[in-house]
Amino acid sequence: MARLRALGAMSGTSLDGVDAAVLITDGVTIFGFGPTAYRPYSGTEREILRKALNRWDGPEVQAAAEVVETAHAEVLAGFADVDLVGFHGQTVAHDPGGRGTLQVGDGAVLAEVLGRTVVWDFRSADVKMGGQGAPLAPFYHHALARRMRATRPVAFLNLGGVGNVSFVDPRIADPAAPGACVAFDTGPANAPIDDLVHQRLGLAQDRDGALAAAGRVDGGAVEAFLDDRWFGRLPPKSLDRNAFPRLPGMVAALTDADAAATLTAIAAASVVKAMDFAPEPPERLLVTGGGRRNPTLMRMLAAGIECPVEPVEAAGLDGDMLEAQAFAFLAVRVLGGLPTSCPATTGVSAAVGGGEVSRPHPASG
Ligand SMILES: Nc1ncnc2c1ncn2[C@@H]1O[C@H](COP(=O)(O)OP(=O)(O)O)[C@@H](O)[C@H]1O
Ligand SMILES: [Mg+2]
Repeated sequence: MARLRALGAMSGTSLDGVDAAVLITDGVTIFGFGPTAYRPYSGTEREILRKALNRWDGPEVQAAAEVVETAHAEVLAGFADVDLVGFHGQTVAHDPGGRGTLQVGDGAVLAEVLGRTVVWDFRSADVKMGGQGAPLAPFYHHALARRMRATRPVAFLNLGGVGNVSFVDPRIADPAAPGACVAFDTGPANAPIDDLVHQRLGLAQDRDGALAAAGRVDGGAVEAFLDDRWFGRLPPKSLDRNAFPRLPGMVAALTDADAAATLTAIAAASVVKAMDFAPEPPERLLVTGGGRRNPTLMRMLAAGIECPVEPVEAAGLDGDMLEAQAFAFLAVRVLGGLPTSCPATTGVSAAVGGGEVSRPHPASG
């Protein structure tokens, strides 16, 4: 595969906005990073997306798809000199054991609007072959660890709406080979905190963990939550944004600050639990996603984990753009016929390359 300039775009579970980033890669080696952009959703757009959650069809889903397509068209049109686009879309429903997984936004439409090749629908093939369809960033994390010239296993933790961790071994060249990657969702991360402050205070987030820092953790609630069967389940395993419907009720009687502190502690404790499933203790835990900006959450994590816990910036990376870069990387892999997931990352029955390729029609006239 040739070296390509791939533009990746991600709209994560937290519904905050669209991240876009250019990556220079052949789908195996990362040669460099290009420009990035972020396009937040407006309050109105976010409400439209929220209304589509856990739905598989109907007018709410159609409205969400239009928001996603418009926001992506806006932000992606600003990039010049791009060979292809990796378009994740917005997950509105995820039920890998049942109805499947649904990311809205039509890549074929985007290919026409942008006049570029778009790779999209990255998760369906994995789910059809018995996988969880998530997480998909692990192969990219593995390539990053190799680029960093790490000599021992490294853990990447993404703290978005939900958390997911990848344990990657850079000593193994092929990410799909046994032992190269182990990855899974850890548990709730920012989404329950966002929901709490949204419902009680009308805020989008507990900025810098300030509210949580002012509260007291209800240890009983944390313990009760950790009793959930989820934490004992062996990976691979994946969650959707609303996987823990009991969680809001567990903090309903607490003050705003204590509830925020307790949900933050639950996010951290979920990750601490996940470390039990590391095939080998990692030399460091590199944190990506919006949660790394929450010092209260980062402090709670560091207190529970033995290796150093640092934002990915400590390794010279951009923690806001890692997921977008991952879909740039995966798009090139799809084009090159390389797998994007394997049994140890999603539980799929065999390594599989997921992704639809849409090419724009040649301009007429
Ligand atoms: N300064 C901050 N303090 C607390 N939380 C933050 C901060 N910045 C971002 N977040 C949280 O991070 C999440 C967005 O991170 P992101 O990695 O984009 O997640 P996703 O991929 O799920 O969209 C939101 O839940 C947001 O509330
Ligand atoms: Mg996001």
